[in-house]
Amino acid sequence: MKIGICGTGRMGSSIAQRLMAVGHEVGVWNRDGVKTKPLTEAGATRYESPAALAAGSDVVIVMLLNDAACDAVYRDPQGIVKAKLAGKLVIDMSTVRPDTMQTLGALVVEQGAAFVESPVGGSTGPAKEGKLFALVGGEKADVARAMPILEQLCRRIEHIGPLGAGATMKLAINLPLLVYWQALGESLTICKSLNLPADRLIDILSDTAGAPTAMKGRGAVIAKVLSGQPLGPTAFGLSAAKKDLATAVQFAATLHAQLPVAASALACFEEAEAAGLGGADATAISSRWPQRSRPGTTS
Ligand SMILES: NC(=O)c1ccc[n+]([C@@H]2O[C@H](COP(=O)([O-])OP(=O)(O)OC[C@H]3O[C@@H](n4cnc5c(N)ncnc54)[C@H](OP(=O)(O)O)[C@@H]3O)[C@@H](O)[C@H]2O)c1
Repeated sequence: MKIGICGTGRMGSSIAQRLMAVGHEVGVWNRDGVKTKPLTEAGATRYESPAALAAGSDVVIVMLLNDAACDAVYRDPQGIVKAKLAGKLVIDMSTVRPDTMQTLGALVVEQGAAFVESPVGGSTGPAKEGKLFALVGGEKADVARAMPILEQLCRRIEHIGPLGAGATMKLAINLPLLVYWQALGESLTICKSLNLPADRLIDILSDTAGAPTAMKGRGAVIAKVLSGQPLGPTAFGLSAAKKDLATAVQFAATLHAQLPVAASALACFEEAEAAGLGGADATAISSRWPQRSRPGTTS
């Protein structure tokens, strides 16, 4: 089966690597073509446009940054829905607004293809190992068709409901995690006076009921930065994390709901991005706060 990966950023590349490792013929397209190079060197076929990728694939997996990126990549003159899509399957794994998945999904279905949304939990490491957590939205028959591929990418697959339900669940999952990274920064701020070594502090905070599972993987990274080492490689970008919080807050507003804690955390992520940390890993928010705070000041 030919699988086309549309968007070879961190997650799209990791997913492409996984699919090649389990024996699929993989095609790739990315706006910045340079990012497809490691994949083409490993045997993937590069396409010149999303439409060409879709035309050359049985299944298209879309993994793009945000709503604007998806909108462009589906609708542009060389976009996905400009290809002959009849009989194909499109699986969109981007973290975006629920209504974006509903609108773009309808466009794909109009062209005679099946469409499933499947945003994922888990970062680049789990993606390469086939251990993501899929939050799926779509028609039952379409989801059943996507299942063999999802099973090669994921440790757990939850069909949440119709299109938009997967996106809603994904926003709900990221919300407390991203609030946690800021809350951890605040927690570390009040621990400064203890003068404990960073790795010990993180070890104690990780082994408590308040710590998310993500601390198992990311705690050591945060400890390194706290102890003065430079920021390491980015797994999940701070700007993308900010986008997830902003999307959750905007989506809640459409439900006439308020998310005061998420909105406060969002302001902290916006400030960190404005301070130049947008490309850093999202956990930079935790190590930044104790450095930013000064006794007796608010900034
Ligand atoms: N990283 C994680 O741990 C993680 C985990 C779960 C879910 N996610 C979600 O997965 C998605 C991808 O994340 P990522 O970490 O792979 O991000 P990334 O490394 O920044 O990659 C973003 C991708 O989107 C493309 N893109 C951005 N704006 C575009 C536009 N206007 N037109 C066309 N393409 C555009 C980028 O193309 P260029 O290379 O040309 O910029 C790139 O292919 C996001 O929705 C993110 O929230 C990420």
